[in-house]
Amino acid sequence: MYENCAAESIARVRKLIKESPSSMRLQLRKHYQIGEIVMMEQIVLAYSGGLDTSVAIPWIKEKYGAEVITVTVDVGQGDDFQAIEKKALKAGAVKHYYFDLKDEFAKDYVFAGIKANVLYEGKYPLSTALARPLIVEKLVEVARKEKASTVAHGCTGKGNDQVRFDVGVKSLAPGLKITAPIREWNMTRAEEIKYADQRGIPVPVTLQSPYSIDQNLFGRSIESGVLENPNNEPPPDVYEWTAPPEKAPDQPEYLEVEFDQGKPVSLNEDPLSPARLIENLNAIAGHHGIGRIDHLEDRLVGIKSREVYECPAATVLLEAHRDLEKCVLTRHELYFKQQVEQQWAFLVYAGLWYDPLRQDLDAFIEKTQERVTGVVRLKLYKGLATVVGRSSPMSLYDANLATYEKGSKFDQMWSVGFIQIWGLPSQVAYNVEIKRKQAPPIVYKIPHQPKVNG
Ligand code: ARG
Repeated sequence: MYENCAAESIARVRKLIKESPSSMRLQLRKHYQIGEIVMMEQIVLAYSGGLDTSVAIPWIKEKYGAEVITVTVDVGQGDDFQAIEKKALKAGAVKHYYFDLKDEFAKDYVFAGIKANVLYEGKYPLSTALARPLIVEKLVEVARKEKASTVAHGCTGKGNDQVRFDVGVKSLAPGLKITAPIREWNMTRAEEIKYADQRGIPVPVTLQSPYSIDQNLFGRSIESGVLENPNNEPPPDVYEWTAPPEKAPDQPEYLEVEFDQGKPVSLNEDPLSPARLIENLNAIAGHHGIGRIDHLEDRLVGIKSREVYECPAATVLLEAHRDLEKCVLTRHELYFKQQVEQQWAFLVYAGLWYDPLRQDLDAFIEKTQERVTGVVRLKLYKGLATVVGRSSPMSLYDANLATYEKGSKFDQMWSVGFIQIWGLPSQVAYNVEIKRKQAPPIVYKIPHQPKVNG
């Protein structure tokens, strides 16, 4: 029995089995009569409870002869986490971890995105992408705790999420191996369902939903099905968080969002925790049909893909935050920050959360946010969130400068000298160009070349 084996020989056999092809591992284990407790490799799987990651459990066990430990992170996807745990264990996981990280996600990731006015390609608030680093952190933490050799995730080989998981894991724990069953197994949907059936994994009725959906506090991402034709208008059934704008209330609703150093802290003077604020705002803005986004997106792997998002709170908060920044930052800061924001969004989209550049950019963004304090008033009406007022103790708006009434501090004659110098280079260049166009064309004569007979 293995209890009697010397530790050294167990280690040697373990090494031999680990290094042998996966197809032979089971046989070798039987041959050496090494109990599974001693031998089993452990793989920690990021588990959503969906069909893909459920099927991944027996698949990993069969392919790698490993034990599967599942990890589910609550970033506000609103699932039944007890049912998910049950499902993981029923599918064959030996242990399940659950982390409620809604507030951490909202505070450290979503708010970082808001401070960065995050919009990938001008449209997508990165709701899915922002949650990935936190899930990766927990995956690595559990792998370390359980002394697992490998982590696994349920991403396909065509998307961005595989990049975010893999680069994240490699950054945090270079020694950990990574496996991505769906990327590797090459099963069609029908084969996957058959595989699940054979192993007693329930195939949910919701599978009839033709869409691939990822959701968290900050938004819902919807792909596939009829959306794959970018010319098809998204059918009503893709949306769950937002009313159709044409059926939204006929009365507008006013909403005040208060920011403290770039962070939203209250709605209509009601101070709320980060997660609660976003949840409440999703409900308020979704009711008015705000936050539907139809995006033809450039994935990192080079594919153009049609993505639909529902991000009610994100839409309102980004609109409000951008407006407040206009009130408190100088033109130079705003213009420079736009470039920083674009780079920030690209890094986060592209799975480079752990690149030092992201942290460098955050240091700049954080500094600018010291003055982003104030209240923004919005009007929510039939799919639109329009800023109708803003105020801040740090406001750079000076009524005495701006006013057209009598007594302005701004002497209009200052502008005459300013304009003289401001327009000078452009004016000179434009006139040189006019002169060149008006001058008669220069005709070059090609000198006659006498033919040389050979
Ligand atoms: N395209 C988005 C991103 O890369 C969302 C992907 C979400 N995945 C899904 N299964 N719908 O961040």
